[in-house]
Amino acid sequence: MRSATRYALIFFLHVIVLTVRAGTATISIDTMKPGPAINPRLYGIFLEEINRSVDGGLYAELVANRAFEDSRPPDGCKLVNGRWMSSQGWDSEFRVKPGEIPHWSLVKPGGARGSMGLETSGGANAQTPYCLRLDTEAGRVGVANDGFEGIGISAGAKYNLSLMARGTGTLAVRLEAADGSPVSNTVRLSGLQNDWKPFAATLTASRPEARARLVIVAEAKGRIWLDLVSLLPEKTWKNRGLRPDIAQMIADLKPGFVRFPGGCVIEGGNIASAYHWKQSVGPVAERPETWSAWNHRRTHGMGFYDYLQFCEDIGAAPLWVNNAGMSCIFRGKPEFVPMSEMGAVVDDFLDAVEFANGPATSKWGELRAQSGHPRPFDLNLIEISNESSGPEFPPRYQMVQKALHARYPDIRYIADLSWISAELMKDCHFDIQDSHIYTSCYWFVENRDVYASRDRKLPPLYLGEVAVTSPDGGDLKGNMRAALSEGVFMMGCERNGDVVNMISYAPLISHVSRPNGWHGMIYHDSTRCFGTVSYYLWKLFGTNVPGHTLATTVSVTPEKPASITGAIGVGTWNTAAEFKDIRVERDGRTLDLGSKWQEEGGRWTEANGVRTQSDPVAGMSYAGNESWSDYTLTLKARKLQGEEGFLVAFGRKGEEKIWWNIGGWGNREHALELNRNPLGKHEPGKIETGRWYDIRIELAGPRVRCFLDGKLIHDVTVPTPQRFFASAGRDATTGDLILKAINFSDEPVSATLAGAGKPGTPALRTVLRAGSLSDNNSLAEPVRIVPVSQDTILADKQEFPPCSLTVLRVKSGPPSRAGNSSR
Ligand code: AHR
Repeated sequence: MRSATRYALIFFLHVIVLTVRAGTATISIDTMKPGPAINPRLYGIFLEEINRSVDGGLYAELVANRAFEDSRPPDGCKLVNGRWMSSQGWDSEFRVKPGEIPHWSLVKPGGARGSMGLETSGGANAQTPYCLRLDTEAGRVGVANDGFEGIGISAGAKYNLSLMARGTGTLAVRLEAADGSPVSNTVRLSGLQNDWKPFAATLTASRPEARARLVIVAEAKGRIWLDLVSLLPEKTWKNRGLRPDIAQMIADLKPGFVRFPGGCVIEGGNIASAYHWKQSVGPVAERPETWSAWNHRRTHGMGFYDYLQFCEDIGAAPLWVNNAGMSCIFRGKPEFVPMSEMGAVVDDFLDAVEFANGPATSKWGELRAQSGHPRPFDLNLIEISNESSGPEFPPRYQMVQKALHARYPDIRYIADLSWISAELMKDCHFDIQDSHIYTSCYWFVENRDVYASRDRKLPPLYLGEVAVTSPDGGDLKGNMRAALSEGVFMMGCERNGDVVNMISYAPLISHVSRPNGWHGMIYHDSTRCFGTVSYYLWKLFGTNVPGHTLATTVSVTPEKPASITGAIGVGTWNTAAEFKDIRVERDGRTLDLGSKWQEEGGRWTEANGVRTQSDPVAGMSYAGNESWSDYTLTLKARKLQGEEGFLVAFGRKGEEKIWWNIGGWGNREHALELNRNPLGKHEPGKIETGRWYDIRIELAGPRVRCFLDGKLIHDVTVPTPQRFFASAGRDATTGDLILKAINFSDEPVSATLAGAGKPGTPALRTVLRAGSLSDNNSLAEPVRIVPVSQDTILADKQEFPPCSLTVLRVKSGPPSRAGNSSR
């Protein structure tokens, strides 16, 4: 959020802390006023390896650290004070101690004797130097792999085991549950010898298990080495080695394009950890693994070829991003390929295009053909680096782009200007400009028409990474509020289809444990996956792209102005404090706060009527009723220690709230914030340690007055928000009228439709709705909020449910004679 905006008076809010009957609306569509043509491939995806999205996610391999390379420190890094650092100060977060073998453990049932160890040379091939040594002295000694937070198996399903082994003896392999009980048949691998030898077998799961382990046991005394231990489900998506549920969820989005493989991952924390596509092609066993900017080792099991194949399989245009000679600007200082050595980087780009598009007789085209795709892939979109900045970038960009353009003039080249000025890039040619937007619900709604004023002479935009990341988007992000906010913004993108050429959400996939802290749109664990509300909203937008929009105006008549509604709370930000005499009164009556306070962060205790937050961190404690409005909240607060003052919340419903931040911003200002977005003016002020303050907050309908020690500090009337949005367009192929309407309010909107067509025309109505804006799907309730479609007919009045996106597809052609539901 820009500071100018932060401090400005806010005249527009779209959240539901304010409760108002939504009233009625009129949606007028002017079919004679078409907007600019929209790219039919406007909506796509950005598929980056982050948060276990590919290894341990989409790529179906079940064994983690299959090649034992996870013990190998990142290339180009040195151990400095216990941390593996690049020369430019990037902490690779490699934390494996010498000799440790992540994901593998020793199994010694019933007093067996033996050990396992890491060997750092002499692996099964030159690309996988590390391997595991298993010594058995007595009894049956083995090793177990715990997969990516468990190996997920389903009853009756078959799993293809392959491994490289050498040594003496026989191996027994099976899947086990956490308690050691078998959950598959046992296979015996015999015929081990001095040299590495491949083994393969099939395991059949006897029951479902989310946290199975693969256990490999030596059946006799001796020494055995293992490498490249792999377990893949027999059934993968289209036999492509991808996890069926996740791959299908992606395919169901019907993305117009796939941007891959990064993101920061292509940049690397240093040049050695950047994405080098040549490491990701050819036989899987010979693809060197590399430490990633996202703090894990990439197997490259899903490599350049596999991404291109996946694009083709789902009918999406490939959009390939590659490193252009500098590492990530957010990971220490960027490392550069010297200009004198940039020839190799340029060649890498050229070779990649030859691999993707060249004839099968060309050097790299031949490798593609050998991999199974003699026909060229149609790679026509190339992005030269991601989120680069600084004066060193433009000359590198130019060198790559010029060489590519000279050989491949029909490819469209994309430059990411998210972190570099147009001025610095002024001598660089790019056909499309990438721009990343991670921000708040508030920003997306407020900026829905931001592109209306863009200079049309500038290159069109690709909004490559877009998502609500503010706290009000929910813990997982992509809750109903986030989704609807993104939707309002996307309506604006459609209206400005001549400016916004492509758009994709980011990041796309995440394991539920979120190892990199980022969110996802598709979450998974070892056996399950689900989409957030954003997933379903983006899917509806992606499958209902109009050829152009039609001028649409919306006028809403609210029945009464909004009241601030919700429960209360007290808390701190980097401060310890205590609170007492907390009272909520309405019409002369004291409202019951109840005895159970709900705490979020901090260390809370209560004694003698004083609630204390004793840890100088962010911590809130809430009480009261979400339906309360028009109340007066009074309390006393005293700061014990820390950097700031107090937070006093009101109008709290679910994750939504307004808080008065008293002594915020380094204990320099007081201000109201709505879901952490600014509300009214900041006022100068600070809080002293050890002094009790009287705090009083008066709510009257939409008006809030805040008093500190009896002095009025803020008097803000929260304007009635616009919470109903609509946008219409025409399907380029079918001629159907597509109306999208978003209703943020907790009441239905009854809208008169003008210009949508003749009443009685058959229509398909699809509604994505939730009980509250904070709602989201989860592993436990994966399809709580999903679109529901119903055949209907066009009527003069249309009802738009609370908290919803509606997509109404009015069929082209004559109206239905019966005038009844077509079901
Ligand atoms: O999407 C996650 C990251 O955000 C991407 O890797 C990067 O491009 C951006 O900073």
